[in-house]
Amino acid sequence: MLSTNEIRRSFLDYFAGTGHAEVPSAPLVPYNDPTLMFVNAGMVPFKNVFTGLEAPSFPRATSSQKCVRAGGKHNDLDNVGYTARHHTFFEMLGNFSFGDYFKEQAIHHAWTLLTREWGLPADKLLATVYHTDDEAFALWQKIAGLPEHRIIRIPTKDNFWAMGDDGPCGPCSEIFYDHGEHIAGGPPGSPDEDGDRFIEIWNLVFMQFEQTAGEITGELPKPSIDTGMGLERVAAVLQGVHDNYDTDTFRALIAASESLTGVAAEGEQRASHRVIADHLRSTSFLLADGVLPSNEGRGYVLRRIMRRAMRHAHLLGAKDPLMHRLVPALVAEMGQAYPELGRAQPLIEETLQREEVQFRRTLANGLKLLDEATATLAAGGELPGETAFRLYDTYGFPYDLTEDALRPRGIAVDRAGFDAAMAQQKAAARAAWKGSGAAADSEVWFDIAEREGASEFTGYTATTGEAQVVALVQGGAEVREAGAGAEVIVVTNQTPFYGESGGQSGDAGRIWTNAGMEMTVETTDKPLGRLHAHRGRVEAGTIRIGDMVRLDIDVERRDAIRANHSATHLLHAALRNRLGEHVTQKGSLVAAERLRFDFSHPSALSAQDIAAIEAEVNAEIRHNEPVTTRLMSPDEAIEAGAMALFGEKYGDEVRVLSMGRSNWNESGRNFSVELCGGTHVNAMGDIGIFRIVSESAVSSGVRRIEALTGEAARQWLVGREDALKNAAGLLRTSPDEVEQRIAALLDERRRLERELADAKKALALGGGAGPAAAVNSDEEIAGITFTGQVMQGLDARELRGLLDQAKARIGSGIAALVAVNDGRAAIAVAVTDDLVSRFDAVALVRAGVEALGGKGGGGRPDMAQGGGPDAGAADAALQAVREAIGSAAG
Ligand code: ALA
Repeated sequence: MLSTNEIRRSFLDYFAGTGHAEVPSAPLVPYNDPTLMFVNAGMVPFKNVFTGLEAPSFPRATSSQKCVRAGGKHNDLDNVGYTARHHTFFEMLGNFSFGDYFKEQAIHHAWTLLTREWGLPADKLLATVYHTDDEAFALWQKIAGLPEHRIIRIPTKDNFWAMGDDGPCGPCSEIFYDHGEHIAGGPPGSPDEDGDRFIEIWNLVFMQFEQTAGEITGELPKPSIDTGMGLERVAAVLQGVHDNYDTDTFRALIAASESLTGVAAEGEQRASHRVIADHLRSTSFLLADGVLPSNEGRGYVLRRIMRRAMRHAHLLGAKDPLMHRLVPALVAEMGQAYPELGRAQPLIEETLQREEVQFRRTLANGLKLLDEATATLAAGGELPGETAFRLYDTYGFPYDLTEDALRPRGIAVDRAGFDAAMAQQKAAARAAWKGSGAAADSEVWFDIAEREGASEFTGYTATTGEAQVVALVQGGAEVREAGAGAEVIVVTNQTPFYGESGGQSGDAGRIWTNAGMEMTVETTDKPLGRLHAHRGRVEAGTIRIGDMVRLDIDVERRDAIRANHSATHLLHAALRNRLGEHVTQKGSLVAAERLRFDFSHPSALSAQDIAAIEAEVNAEIRHNEPVTTRLMSPDEAIEAGAMALFGEKYGDEVRVLSMGRSNWNESGRNFSVELCGGTHVNAMGDIGIFRIVSESAVSSGVRRIEALTGEAARQWLVGREDALKNAAGLLRTSPDEVEQRIAALLDERRRLERELADAKKALALGGGAGPAAAVNSDEEIAGITFTGQVMQGLDARELRGLLDQAKARIGSGIAALVAVNDGRAAIAVAVTDDLVSRFDAVALVRAGVEALGGKGGGGRPDMAQGGGPDAGAADAALQAVREAIGSAAG
């Protein structure tokens, strides 16, 4: 008997052997398709190849594609566990022709594989065709030799396949397996076709058309083939069982769940084990493909699936979290075919465990409330919507979980009442927001958020993607369309554009369509914290509500932002290491051009501190460790060493970013662990260089560092070097010699200044003979030698020195000097020692000061100084001194 793994392999081998390229499964999140929540068919990754938007890399392909149907159009969640063939996760085996072969070869390959390779008896198989497709009918006769009554014409959309309302489509032909008379049910198209006897195993789609909004709008460039076979179904057929949950893979998973809970998968417990096995697959694969539980969009669907499984674990009486302990069994079953599962195993286990611990805390209370609320209800009764809403709001019970819990008792839930309670709560939130004096246009954002839900952010991993336009805002009001030249704000259902938050700038880029619409996005912000609002200008064409558009972020700009954001985390950690634990973040700005980080610290950083911090950040960059992102509860985040929490509520989840060296110190943690919703580099080396360009004060106790990374840092450094080279050029030396050259020039300058001052003095004294001969116009007053002079432009500080020289020269006598500078005059008088008993320099200088229009003057009997405003009286001042000497001598 072939195992499921062998069946998958032999399918791929058969088609590889017939010229088909074997293509690995695409991730479950279809970043290139905004109309889908998850990949739900094998052809989804090839959609643009079928419609001719992308050239095929090969004419034929085959794959085993992971699919999830648990939200949006195909929602199988409610049935899973209670039926034989419903799954949230399944694998679709397929072969594809991109304008290569068509109906005949498709039917030939399907028939050959089923009957020759796998040996299914021909008389157990039958086919359906679209009622007008005579060609397919004839081919089934010719190739398979099927008798007419086993080729059934179906007139309904059951035999016309479309991916969704938009995309490629065409008539199809389905192959059914007859499980035998002992099972109730009729062939397709018959009144009791819903019975379990005839099971569809393979759908061959003859892709010919393209549709938009459910209407066929054109033909594909070339007729093509898309087929899909549910691996779980065909495994059941080939393994001779009737129920997908009895195939080897599911038996192994259910056995693991039985052994861990100690409860057999029988009776009432059977459904719980099936739910657990199925949901283990979908949640693990979604986590491996980067979806994390949240309260919006894809993350919320994941959370609903998880919680549904966890409630069933609780129903089975599991005392401890169960789901994460089943992951090894899943990896053993499917890890070889899907290596991403093994790679993500730690993340999957961690996330499941955390979610289950958190959910179990509220589960018991919620179930108690549910029991009380339904105590008086009998089968056929209805739980008030208000109660379902309270369970949802307070205990995190998704609506369908409440429904699921009441289903075995035949109790329904009042959906309308639930919706009304939800609407009331939203109205209250809106009123509270308006009351807070928020922006005038907040009304329009509330309308959009309520109608459309949050924008799904795909930009942690993607930089481009497709999306549907759900709202256009112009001048604070919603509009249906906006033409060339219009300034408009665009909201899409999903987007790779980061909306400005947490200090990180929003993304810029472009939004465009193949039809010629082109819009430049200047920036993106996040009204109400949930919508991503792309703000920009329509350059060409018209953008309309409902348009499928392509969004490309400016990758170079985003990469610069990433580098600056990750560098900010490293800087924060390095500051704490160097300055101490009191350093906490007070604000930050992460733009493409630079980063700014404000932090608490009482004083300016020294040059050594700055150099050491910069060196440490650069050392972390060179270690080039990858960045890891984990979702945690706030408690776990603190435990992991995250630095700050900003008002997270109980039950919230936070993104924890770890970067820099792991096991960095004895704590065993990374160099930096922080909560952050921003976008970051993949590995530290992507930051390039880190350069601090300024350190300053913001307010008392808060410092600010501005820094550059990557290309901006390089350009800054180049600019500095250019300046140095230019300086070297001006100095006619090499950059290495600039410092010495400047020191030499400064020395020279000081020398020249001295010389200049001396020359001025000499000039002022009227002689060229140098300072020693400065004051030399000797005269005789009452037998005393007097020398006196007025000197223009002389600094008053020079007076004493010059008078000392004059005294030395005359030996015995009195010297007086007036220095005239900037319209003021200073006067000094010196008396040689032998004369101080007869003449007082202070008295003499005062006579001069008075003549200069000044007051006072002071010093010692042998040397005194003063000054006055009347520079024009310099000669008069000397004359006054002469007269004072005359009177004192007399
Ligand atoms: N795309 C087709 C399906 O999903 C084969 O059934």
